[in-house]
Amino acid sequence: MTKTRTRFVCQQCGYAAPRWSGRCPQCEQWNTLVETLEQRPGPGASRVSAQNFPQPITSISTDGFSRIPVPLQEFNRTLGGGIVPGSVVLIGGDPGIGKSTLLLQLSALLAANGKPTLYVSGEESVQQIKMRARRLDIGQEQLYVIAETNLNQILGQIERLGPQLVVVDSIQAVYLDELESSAGSIGQVRECATALLRMAKSQSIPVFIVGHVTKEGAIAGPRVLEHMVDTVLYLEGERFHSYRLLRSVKNRFGSTNEVGVFEMQEQGLAEITNPSEAFLSERLASATGSVVAVTMEGTRPILVEIQALTTATSSGLPRRTANGIDFNRLLLLVAVLSKRVGFKLATQDVFVNVVGGLRISEPAADLGVAAAIASSLRGVPVPDDCVFLGEVGLSGELRSVGQADRRLNEAAKLGFRRCIVPRSLRLGHGPASAGQESASVSQLEVLRARSIGEALDLALRQ
Ligand SMILES: Nc1ncnc2c1ncn2[C@@H]1O[C@H](COP(=O)(O)OP(=O)(O)OP(=O)(O)O)[C@@H](O)[C@H]1O
Ligand SMILES: [Mg+2]
Ligand SMILES: [Zn+2]
Repeated sequence: MTKTRTRFVCQQCGYAAPRWSGRCPQCEQWNTLVETLEQRPGPGASRVSAQNFPQPITSISTDGFSRIPVPLQEFNRTLGGGIVPGSVVLIGGDPGIGKSTLLLQLSALLAANGKPTLYVSGEESVQQIKMRARRLDIGQEQLYVIAETNLNQILGQIERLGPQLVVVDSIQAVYLDELESSAGSIGQVRECATALLRMAKSQSIPVFIVGHVTKEGAIAGPRVLEHMVDTVLYLEGERFHSYRLLRSVKNRFGSTNEVGVFEMQEQGLAEITNPSEAFLSERLASATGSVVAVTMEGTRPILVEIQALTTATSSGLPRRTANGIDFNRLLLLVAVLSKRVGFKLATQDVFVNVVGGLRISEPAADLGVAAAIASSLRGVPVPDDCVFLGEVGLSGELRSVGQADRRLNEAAKLGFRRCIVPRSLRLGHGPASAGQESASVSQLEVLRARSIGEALDLALRQ
């Protein structure tokens, strides 16, 4: 067997060496040499190909390019429809978040249509996978499983089986034997991904690749991995909560920032088709410090409960704790409440929590957070049937937020009767999105406020 040559190429300056060294002899940077498969041009490579040639765009047919539907709506939503044949999808997520579970479920759901799917695990034995499958109640005959880390073997098996879908769990566990670097190294990850990509495109087989994430939350390995693949999904969730969000951060075949919502149960990930209802299901009536805000996840409004608790500081500096919102945003809101509304928060510990482990990153929830803090401090509950919407500015002014109709429609649909919003908020009362015709903004009493002070007067009057 002729062994393919590899080279160690500096990622900074492009210098290539036959051996690895810690420092690039040319640009003198440390740890920049990465093992790379050498592509030696074969004989005649410069001759023009007879098979592949430029064609007029009008003559290109997309027949046979239809998406494979997945009987898992939340998954389809994230992908922007079904699975595109030949596409390569990277799924990242924290350890234990449920990546293997989700992809095993996906493989089984597709295998139910009678065509084989292949689940390759480089991390678990087939017995371990079987045990998980039993717990998830998965037993499709067309679901094939193999524990293998040698990518050339895997590619060979794919060729033999001809599956409609391949899952590789994970890219850090597989290796090409042409490279000397160990599995998980930058060189291996990149070359393995390249090989899988080539297989996917040439055989029109969709491939889902699991990627582990680093402490910082990025997919481990070269950044180029995310550039190479068609779609990048992240499975997110809080460690002690059962909700999981499947978020698309890159998608060549659909919009990004669509989000699928799941709940991790004993039988695997279950779809949550109405997240707002789920996130509000345990809300206590007339509790102080509890407020409902409407946040957008992509094009989808989600109602969330924001809780705040203020207690007298026992010693020294007052504490601020933010769960599910940005810590600096909390500091800002506390400062505005102190300075513009005159709340005595300097001697209060303030805790804020978004229920269900959801993380809100948009300022549209500012008013909700501020109202929750005010409600707790004053010991007065906000009305149960009221939602809050609005960004808070440093002068205490309320600023408008986008997609207001969508948000308020969702609130009306869930039975809310009132909303407190910025005075400048534009409401078109436009047509609700599909399936929402039953309730609309016009059923809500819209209370407008110019400043946070005015909004709190409306919210906490008794
Ligand atoms: N019996 C069970 N009941 C409910 N949930 C369970 C049960 N067993 C496992 N889980 C859930 O499944 C999770 C593990 O899922 P999975 O192995 O798919 O995660 P992963 O993202 O592939 O992890 P890794 O990064 O280790 O490969 C656990 O963290 C737990 O939340
Ligand atoms: Mg796993
Ligand atoms: Zn260099």
